[in-house]
Amino acid sequence: MRGIILAGGNGTRLKPLSIVGSKQLAPVYDKPMIYYPLSLLMLAGISEILIITRPTELEVFRRLLGDGARLGMSIGYAAQDEPRGIADAFRVGADHIRGEDNALILGDNLFHGANLPSLLRRSADRLNGCVLFGHQVADPQRFGVAEVDERGRLVAIEEKPARPRSNLAIPGLYMFDGGVVDVAKRLTPSARGELEITDVLRAYLDEGRADLMWLGRGVTWLDTGTHESLLEAGMFVRDVQHRQGVRIGCVEEIAMHMGFIGVDDCYRLGEEMASSPYGKYVMNCARSFHCLPASARFLDES
Ligand code: TTP
Repeated sequence: MRGIILAGGNGTRLKPLSIVGSKQLAPVYDKPMIYYPLSLLMLAGISEILIITRPTELEVFRRLLGDGARLGMSIGYAAQDEPRGIADAFRVGADHIRGEDNALILGDNLFHGANLPSLLRRSADRLNGCVLFGHQVADPQRFGVAEVDERGRLVAIEEKPARPRSNLAIPGLYMFDGGVVDVAKRLTPSARGELEITDVLRAYLDEGRADLMWLGRGVTWLDTGTHESLLEAGMFVRDVQHRQGVRIGCVEEIAMHMGFIGVDDCYRLGEEMASSPYGKYVMNCARSFHCLPASARFLDES
C-alpha cells in the first residue's frame, strides 16, 4: 500500500501562525505536526509516501524529511497550487498511486492508541473499494458523520449535519483501491468550490464498496486546525509522554520497529540530535531494542 499526506491548505483558522509557514510544520509539543500523520502511515507498514503541499512549502518539507532514505523509506513531494479540496489529492497524486491501494491522511490529524498498528493492518487486508474510520465524538455536527444500521454497517455519510444521525465522526484517514483516481477525476466542485472527500466516499458507498472501521475507545483522535486544538494536542502529547516515558510520533523509533532501518541506523539518527531529549530518547530506544519483550514492539501487537 502507498501513502499520501495532504499537507497544503490555507490554514485560515490558524492565522497568523500559518501566514508564512506551513501549519503542518508547527510544533506539536516536541516535533513538527507532520511527524504524527507520517508515523501513522509507517505503523500501517507503508514506506512509500507522497507529501502534497503548497508550492512555496515544498523545499522546507524536503529539508526536514529528504527522500526518506534515512528512515528506510521513499518520500516524494508534489505541489497543490490551489487548495481545491481534499479529493484533489488523488489528482495531484495520481502518478504516485499508480493504480495501487493507497492510504490518505490529512497532515493535521493525530492518532494515538495501542491497537492502531493491528487495526490498520486489518483494514488494509479487508480493503475492497475503500475503508473509512469512525470515531465517537461529543460534537458530530462539526465533522463528516457516518450513519450506521443496527448492525453497525455504514449506510450514509453526511457532511457537517445540523442533526447528526450518529456520533461517529469520520477522521482524516482513508484507504482506497487504485480506482480512486478515476473517481476523483469525475468529481465536480461542491457549493463551497472544493472537491469533496465525502463525494468520493459516497461514490464507493453507492457501489457497496465502502467499509467502516470503528476506532474504539482505545484510540485518541485529535485534529490541530485551531489555536485551541493545537495547544490541546501539544498538551496531550506532553502528558502521555511524561507519564509513560514513551514518545508519540517518534519516526526514528517506528522506522526501527517496522524494520525499515536497523538498530544501529536508529542510534546514529538519535546521536545527531544528542543534545535534545528527543535525540537521547531515540538513542535509548536503539540501545534497549533487543531487551524489549515482544509485546512492547509495535509489530507484535495483536
Ligand atoms: P482544512 O482544515 O479543511 O483546511 P485548512 O488546513 O486550509 O485550514 P482552514 O480551514 O483553517 O483554512 O484541511 C484539512 C487538511 O487538509 C489540512 O492538513 C490541509 C489539507 N488540505 C490541503 O492540503 N489541500 C486542500 O485543498 C484542503 C482543502 C486541505
